[in-house]
Amino acid sequence: MAEKGVAIVTGGTRGIGLEITKALIAEGYAVAAIYHGNEEAAQKCEADTGAKTFKIDVCDFEACQKGAQEIAAQLGPVKVLVNNAGITRDGTLHKMAADNWHAVIETNLNSCFNMCRAVINDMRGSGFGRIINISSINGQKGQFGQTNYSAAKAGMLGFTKALALENAAKGITVNAICPGYIATDMTASMNQDVLDNIIRQIPTARMGKPEEIADIVCFLASDKAAFINGSTITANGGQYMAS
Ligand code: CAA
Repeated sequence: MAEKGVAIVTGGTRGIGLEITKALIAEGYAVAAIYHGNEEAAQKCEADTGAKTFKIDVCDFEACQKGAQEIAAQLGPVKVLVNNAGITRDGTLHKMAADNWHAVIETNLNSCFNMCRAVINDMRGSGFGRIINISSINGQKGQFGQTNYSAAKAGMLGFTKALALENAAKGITVNAICPGYIATDMTASMNQDVLDNIIRQIPTARMGKPEEIADIVCFLASDKAAFINGSTITANGGQYMAS
């Protein structure tokens, strides 16, 4: 059994999630990395990092319940949950298909309910838990072309605070991280001119690295962060102030 116990990372085989998986393993956790579509990335993650991957649709309430039970049975009680899974379906609202609204709300926000609901009672029973929700600068400030994504990410911030209040007395902390623009497949899929324009607005004059978000996750999971609860930690190179 890993020294620090078990951590679940949703979307844990690619992008920011993969770096979170690696960093938590380096800290001494056994990591269950949840993925949905990309089998190749999941196999590579398992081979490269030693994480155990689980194929679970985080939009599916029952699948999350079953999946969390399976993870606990295979690896042990879950101490840390990182809700990182997220997608974009960018487009202005006046052109947005209803599917693109619902997909983003389901994957980015409803998934937090599904996964937290699946682990919270065991955490409450054990008197310890760390839940870390990966929100976004665009949930804080809004972003042109992202009514769906900004709504989901802002929703995660309210969710974080309410859940923190409900569980603080049970030794559980619930916090959010708001990354700015981070160099991953998600930002790489943006129109390059649009992305360059956004990078010009970042005072630190670069995108963030996934490792810079993973380090915050490790800190929030640690004993040193026990008094941080219901908080939002931002890491955006100063973009929020400038935009
Ligand atoms: N503010 C004001 N007006 C803007 C604007 C902005 N930021 N961006 C575009 N416009 C204007 C354009 O100038 C254009 O105006 P005109 O018709 O008068 O010329 C009009 O809006 C339409 O713009 P587009 O041609 O860009 O429209 P489109 O439909 O082709 O594209 C879009 C819309 C796909 C949303 C595109 O603007 C875009 O990609 N925006 C960036 C979205 C973004 O930041 N996504 C982040 C993805 S990464 C992520 O989400 C991770 C994270 O957490 C940070």
